[in-house]
Amino acid sequence: MDNAGMKRGIVIKDDWPGHSLDLFTYPEHYHEDIDSVYIPHGVIMNRIERLARYVMDDFGDNNIMVLCVLKGGYKFCADLVDFIKILGSNSNKYLETRVEFIRLKSYLNDQSTEDLHIIGSRDLSFLHGKCVLIVEAIVDTGKTMKALLKHVETFQPKMVKVAGLLVKRVPNMAESLTDYVGFEIPNRFVVGYALDYNEYFRDLNHICVISKTGKMKYKV
Ligand code: HPA
Ligand code: MG
Repeated sequence: MDNAGMKRGIVIKDDWPGHSLDLFTYPEHYHEDIDSVYIPHGVIMNRIERLARYVMDDFGDNNIMVLCVLKGGYKFCADLVDFIKILGSNSNKYLETRVEFIRLKSYLNDQSTEDLHIIGSRDLSFLHGKCVLIVEAIVDTGKTMKALLKHVETFQPKMVKVAGLLVKRVPNMAESLTDYVGFEIPNRFVVGYALDYNEYFRDLNHICVISKTGKMKYKV
């Protein structure tokens, strides 16, 4: 197995401008609000299928307790779990998956705020003794993930792995906490595929770069 590919994922370079919008379809109501298609939906899906394989190889025969970090992680989580089921049925090796949800909030506009708010179930005692897969859409500074991991560990799971669809290259990037990385991207704000800007753009399938107009229009 290619360990580098697993740790960094598909690496998107700093100067990648994204694909021109004309090459894809997207919701008409966003046509002024995005600059480019940064990662097309189909590529996201292909990559998630590969991540599902890594997960299955690591979890062996253990049931998977999936902890989905809302709201941004809901599409990634749903698609990842689907691929785990499909790959399982294709190879006649079904892994039992259970999904639980946790909600964190740390962003206003496109800025990270300092503190971690766990909204929703703080009591994660159902994780005790389980093999846990944390599923998160974006890992940037790693501060949030570090805090969440610490919280999860207090419930004494048997094993914990982290899947991050996107990992941002930020200055002083901590040692990676993410076991399965979809894409390593530059430190820029992206939306779509359940990632939001003040709750907008979750209904966009592709991961896109927001335009100046979009940033202004949906600012709070
Ligand atoms: N987009 C949306 N939400 C986010 C991002 C991003 O780039 N980074 C952290 N939360
Ligand atoms: Mg958000």
